[in-house]
Amino acid sequence: MNQDQLKQLVAQAAADYVAAHAPAGCVLGVGTGSTANLFIDALAPIKSRFVGAVSSSEASSRRLESIGIPVLDLNTVSEIPIYVDGADEVDGGLHAIKGGGAALTREKIVAAVAREFVCIADASKKVPVLGKFPLPVEVIPMAREQVARALRALGGEPRWREGVITDNGNVILDVHGLAIVDPVALESEIDHITGVVTSGLFARRRVDLLLIGGPDGVERLSRT
Ligand code: 5RP
Repeated sequence: MNQDQLKQLVAQAAADYVAAHAPAGCVLGVGTGSTANLFIDALAPIKSRFVGAVSSSEASSRRLESIGIPVLDLNTVSEIPIYVDGADEVDGGLHAIKGGGAALTREKIVAAVAREFVCIADASKKVPVLGKFPLPVEVIPMAREQVARALRALGGEPRWREGVITDNGNVILDVHGLAIVDPVALESEIDHITGVVTSGLFARRRVDLLLIGGPDGVERLSRT
């Protein structure tokens, strides 16, 4: 199976999971990216189970609406039983790097509200140590250089993702060269840099259930 087929496999596994575990009439949290897109498509046959979805990006909102799932403002929603999203890397402790699609801040907000964060990924995303994938950091535009200097002081090599403006009107710095052995500590350090909106490290709020698609099918890893 190629990577796209593995993404399809986990997307369907996640749709089966929400069909079995999400309470009828609930609001679903839905992420962003190619794997999340396949998950949205797989929701079409079970869409009547949900009153709507909270989405982590404008792109996912459009896709949800195109299949007839209403997109709700998070400010009108108090409970999200399950949030399903992809990732760029996930380690054995279920900490993740996200934000390859520049949607990290809204993803973090939806994940914070959700009771359960189900992450879907093909096997290439599972790594022993996070950091080979450059860590995305969303930054207020006027603070770009100041934040870049602070990230260099932490040992990273930030590169501006030129031409990309997030749904929140900000810019992205991708931080190369990090070996993230303590994801919780690094997330706190980066989030405290003035001008940073958030980093793509999902460590304090990590994944609850990881569905990994590999040649032998879908493997499940849960938080212990
Ligand atoms: C978007 C994300 C995505 O979940 C992540 O980039 C994985 O994307 P894909 O499923 O296309 O590999 O964090 O901001």
